[in-house]
Parts: sequence; structure tokens; C-alpha cells
Amino acid sequence: MSMHARQSFALRTFALRTFALAMLMLVCVPLRAATSDFTLAPLPYPYDALEPAIDARTMQIHHGKHHQAYVDNLNRAIATDATLRGQPLEALLSRMSKLPDAVRNNGGGHWNHDFFWQSMTRPGQGGAPSASLLAAIERDFGSLDKFKAAFRAAGLTRFGSGWSWLIVSADGKLKVTSTANQDNPLMDLATDRGTPLLGNDVWEHAYYLQYQNRRGDYLDAWWTVVDWSVVSRRHAEALTVGASGR
Ligand SMILES: [Fe+2]
Repeated sequence: MSMHARQSFALRTFALRTFALAMLMLVCVPLRAATSDFTLAPLPYPYDALEPAIDARTMQIHHGKHHQAYVDNLNRAIATDATLRGQPLEALLSRMSKLPDAVRNNGGGHWNHDFFWQSMTRPGQGGAPSASLLAAIERDFGSLDKFKAAFRAAGLTRFGSGWSWLIVSADGKLKVTSTANQDNPLMDLATDRGTPLLGNDVWEHAYYLQYQNRRGDYLDAWWTVVDWSVVSRRHAEALTVGASGR
């Protein structure tokens, strides 16, 4: 092979390798981003579906601005750390004590709001607790009304911003608890850990446009949009998982 032919062959080989590498990057980079980044799901109902308990403007800002910001900031917080990417959010929550505050605040914010939207439905369409859930509520709180009073008190007395929760503890018992900021009972740093069945957002952004400083009125109205079929399903699932794990 002549010198010219060798040079031409080397050039073609180099060009082919460069082309192949570029193609590989084009295919792999979007796949990596698509499997490890988080996205904002649409609400399962229109913005005005929860009126009069929660007004459409509050829902629009809460979902489109606040929740979107948690998603965007979470993606930014994990973008440069390969150990945090490509994992279910629950896996991050379970080791949150070892992760940066930006992941804690925004990872919690994303999970909590997804859970919150799914916990609500149009007024009058939420049904009632299943027989099994009602029996557990009566066993652990005395009555449905006593449970609601405990849940309301947890939301009302949470100083500043946070959430009130109904959880199933590891022993299968129901418990009312609350967390500050965007923490939740799935985080390893939570005082009361357990499987959430119901959670209410008591940040001012959840109610201030409509209720101003009357958080108690918001908490009372919120019961009209709780979807008990969802809460009952979560309870049944938590008992099944708990039974198989014991
Ligand atoms: Fe919120």
C-alpha cells in the first residue's frame, strides 16, 4: 500500500470512528436524561374541580409554579451526581439523612405534592373509608370524628410550613403525625416513620389566596375533597406489604 493510500485509509477510519462516537452520544445522552430526570405530571382533574374547598387560582399556582419549581430544583440538585440519578424518588427519600438539603427539600416537595393531588377529588365524590380502614381508625383513634380532630390539630399546630399525615407504622397501627417544610414519613430522618395514607399541605401557598390566615377553615373544608377510595386502597396495600414483610 502506498503512503497516500495508507493516509487515506487512516483518515477514513478516523472519520468513521468519530461518526460512530457521535451517533452513540446522540442515542445515549437523551436516554440517560429521560430515565433519571423527574417530571411534573398533569393534575388528575381540572384546576377548578376542588371548588369551593380550594379555588382554581390557588390550584393553578400551587401545581404550575410551586410543584414545578420543586421538580426543576430536584433535577438541578441531582444533575451532576451519578449516585443520585436514575433512581426512584422513594429510594432517595429512604436515605435522605445522607443527602444534600436541596435534594431533601425538593425531593420531598415533589413526592409530597404528587401524593397530595392524588388524595383529592371533586367535592362529594370522595366516598367513605373502606370497612377495613374504618375499623382500623376506630381501633386506633376511637372514631372517625376523633381521627379527624387529631389530623386537624396536627395541621393547625404545625408551626410555619409543613404537612399533616395519617400513616401506618411498622407494627400496622395507624398514627397521626406532622412534618416540617417538605419532609415526610418515608424519610429516614423523620421522627415518626411509616407508610403515608393521607397527607395535607399546610404551607400558606396551599390556602392563603382563599383563606388568608384562617388555616383552620381550610383544614375543615379540605375534608370535602378527600378521596377516601384512594386512602382505603393505600391502607389495603400497606397491610399487604407489611404482612409479607413480617
Ligand atoms: Fe404545597
